[in-house]
Amino acid sequence: MSVSLVGAGPGDPELITVRGLARVRAADVLVYDRLVSAELVAEAPAQALRIARDELTQAEVNDALIDHGRRSFAVRLKGGDPFVFGRGGEEALALAAAGVPFELVPGVSSIAAVPESALIPVTHRGVSQSVTAFAAHDVEKLDVAALARVPGTLVAFMGGARAERLAQRLIEHGKPASTPAAVISRGTLDDEQVQVTPLGSLAAATATPALVVIGEVVALRAALGALRRSAA
Ligand SMILES: C[S@@+](CC[C@H](N)C(=O)[O-])C[C@H]1O[C@@H](n2cnc3c(N)ncnc32)[C@H](O)[C@@H]1O
Repeated sequence: MSVSLVGAGPGDPELITVRGLARVRAADVLVYDRLVSAELVAEAPAQALRIARDELTQAEVNDALIDHGRRSFAVRLKGGDPFVFGRGGEEALALAAAGVPFELVPGVSSIAAVPESALIPVTHRGVSQSVTAFAAHDVEKLDVAALARVPGTLVAFMGGARAERLAQRLIEHGKPASTPAAVISRGTLDDEQVQVTPLGSLAAATATPALVVIGEVVALRAALGALRRSAA
C-alpha cells in the first residue's frame, strides 16, 4: 500500500484541497497534526485508525508511517503545506529510504493565506516584490542583520510569542521602527485576531498559532478593509 502526505491548509477546514479531502476520506490510518481542524480529522472513515502526531517524536512518526504504509493506506495530514516548515521532506525521505510508495498533496500554506485572511497581500506591485519567510522560534539565533537589510516583506513563522523581541532586534539592526507590522493569530479561523502596529510597538501574540508580517504591505490592510464587499 502507500502513504499520502497531505496539506490540510491553514486552519479553516474548507481550505483543504479537493484531492487532499479525497485522500482523508479514503484513509485506513490518519496521522494528524495538532493544528489540523477537528472537522477534517472527522472526515476520515469511522473505522480509520486516528493517531495524534503530538504524542509522538519525529522518529516515531516516521516509523508509524513506514509501518502502516506497508500494510494499508496511510494519510499524513499536516497543517498548511507539508513542505513549508512542516517536516514533510523528512517524512518523505524516510519513506523513500524504507521503500514505501508515497505521494505529496500540496496544501494552502499559511505563508500567504494567513496574511490574506487579514487583508494583507504578501506582495503588491510597487510596494513589495519579494517575501522572506523564516522560522523565529529562537529569535536570538536569527541573522537579524541580514533580515533587517533584506527588501520586501518579512514573514516570521513560530515567532508570535517572541514578536516584541524580534521587533527590538530588527530595529537595533537598522529596520525603521515605523515599518508597518502585524501579528495574526489563528488566521482563517472564526476567532482570528489581528494586531497591526508600527514595528516599534509590536507586542507578543495573544493566541496560537501566530504569524508575524513586517513590511509596507501591512499598510494596505486599511484600504482593502474599507473597500471590501462581502462575497456571501
Ligand atoms: C510548524 S509551522 C507549519 C507551517 C505550515 N506547514 C504551513 O505551510 O502553513 C507552524 C507555524 O505556522 C504558522 N501558522 C500556521 N497556521 C497558522 C494560522 N492559522 N494562523 C497563524 N499562523 C499560522 C505559525 O507561525 C505556526 O507557529
